[in-house]
Amino acid sequence: MAAIRRLLFITLAGSLGVTSTGFRANVPVDTRSLDEIYAAAQNESGPLIVASGGDAQSQGDTIRNAWAQRFPRIPLNLTVDLSKYHDSRIDRAFYEKNENTDVALLQTLHDFPYWKEQNRLMYYKPATFNDIYNGEKDLDGAYYPILTFNFGRFIYDSTKLNASLIPKSYADLTDPRYKDKLVLTLPNDDDAILYLFHTIVSKYGFRWLDGLIANNPMWVRGTGTPTFVLQQEHNNATSKLALTITSAAAPANATYFHVKEPQAPEQYMSWTQTAAIFASTKRPNSAQLFISWLLSDEFQSTLQSQGRPIVRRSLDQGELYLSNTTQVDGFRVFMNDRRFVERWRLQFETSLGTAQGPSALTFVP
Ligand SMILES: *[C@@H]1O[C@H](CO)[C@@H](O)[C@H](O)[C@H]1NC(C)=O
Ligand SMILES: *[C@@H]1O[C@H](CO)[C@@H](O)[C@H](O)[C@H]1NC(C)=O
Ligand SMILES: *[C@@H]1O[C@H](CO)[C@@H](O)[C@H](O)[C@H]1NC(C)=O
Ligand SMILES: *[C@@H]1O[C@H](CO)[C@@H](O)[C@H](O)[C@H]1NC(C)=O
Ligand SMILES: *[C@@H]1O[C@H](CO)[C@@H](O)[C@H](O)[C@H]1NC(C)=O
Ligand SMILES: *[C@@H]1O[C@H](CO)[C@@H](O)[C@H](O)[C@H]1NC(C)=O
Repeated sequence: MAAIRRLLFITLAGSLGVTSTGFRANVPVDTRSLDEIYAAAQNESGPLIVASGGDAQSQGDTIRNAWAQRFPRIPLNLTVDLSKYHDSRIDRAFYEKNENTDVALLQTLHDFPYWKEQNRLMYYKPATFNDIYNGEKDLDGAYYPILTFNFGRFIYDSTKLNASLIPKSYADLTDPRYKDKLVLTLPNDDDAILYLFHTIVSKYGFRWLDGLIANNPMWVRGTGTPTFVLQQEHNNATSKLALTITSAAAPANATYFHVKEPQAPEQYMSWTQTAAIFASTKRPNSAQLFISWLLSDEFQSTLQSQGRPIVRRSLDQGELYLSNTTQVDGFRVFMNDRRFVERWRLQFETSLGTAQGPSALTFVP
């Protein structure tokens, strides 16, 4: 019996690639300061390779610039691409045994439990680990929320749309007064937009989708694209394009953009972009420095000053979970049920066709 149990354990351990010390590494919280980790990281050969989810290279600039200023001796190679292609390449490198990504920071939240099951993630707890909301992090230290994003707020060009014409709810978007005015990301091309559209259609039915399509929206790829198009068309008097719900934020450099949150019980979508260090990293201290810095007071307080909900309890003081208009953990649950995701994706593809047009990354700088 003992022999069978031992054999079973060896087989299981072999298939999961776990060590004989157990299934979960019980790692302590790192008590080193950022400067101490920085000193250790300088002993490693760079650059640190980070796969960052997004749909415009410029979305990586804030982190790239802040890192270069704070840790000039550790070169950072942070590439922005759609999370769904980053994860695919990361898996391909794993299959072909040539892994080179040190850290992933992605929207594809189903990847993290999957990679953890395969024992491909490094267990690591940065100094602020116990202050990160339990609902968003892996308790063993395999992955962590870094920053919050959302889609579904009304972003509009106020010179083209009078304040009285701003929708009060998603139901309003089927009103003929929005004909030719909308620019929207295809929900079958981005799972976060899919989640938003699934929330709306679950409430209003497919009649809502039919009404929306009747208003002739301009359908695009990428979530940066709608506000980019609205900016391009701003000075075009012939263009009626004025409104989107599928961009995360209004461009900071254009004062004519305004943002309005839908009112409860309407729900927009939000999530915490999540990061992990790969166990295969050859630059463990550099990778740990990156995670520790992103979750430090230093970095998180700059996000706080932008008015965003924060993944750290002490800085956020409940905000992340207090909203009546968005449920931050809904998307994590949705993403982990790939059969459900696929059924909804095809519902939208049935009406809208496969995603066409230039890739988001080639369209928006
Ligand atoms: C740098 O690496 C060498 C060789 O691996 C090691 O002996 C030394 O302790 C390291 N220094 C730091 C600051 O980590
Ligand atoms: C950055 O990393 C990517 C992905 O590994 C690689 O294709 C690219 O060549 C690297 N760029 C530099 C400048 O090292
Ligand atoms: C907004 O409303 C004002 C006052 O009714 C009107 O003069 C103006 O033309 C409207 N602008 C647009 C873009 O519809
Ligand atoms: C202005 O908008 C109209 C209507 O959408 C479009 O046909 C035209 O190509 C646009 N002009 C420019 C310069 O983009
Ligand atoms: C804002 O930035 C975008 C993208 O860099 C650019 O195309 C646009 O002209 C800028 N607008 C203003 C008002 O500066
Ligand atoms: C959410 O709704 C409750 C009950 O109406 C209200 O007390 C609370 O202030 C609302 N929260 C926010 C963040 O608006």
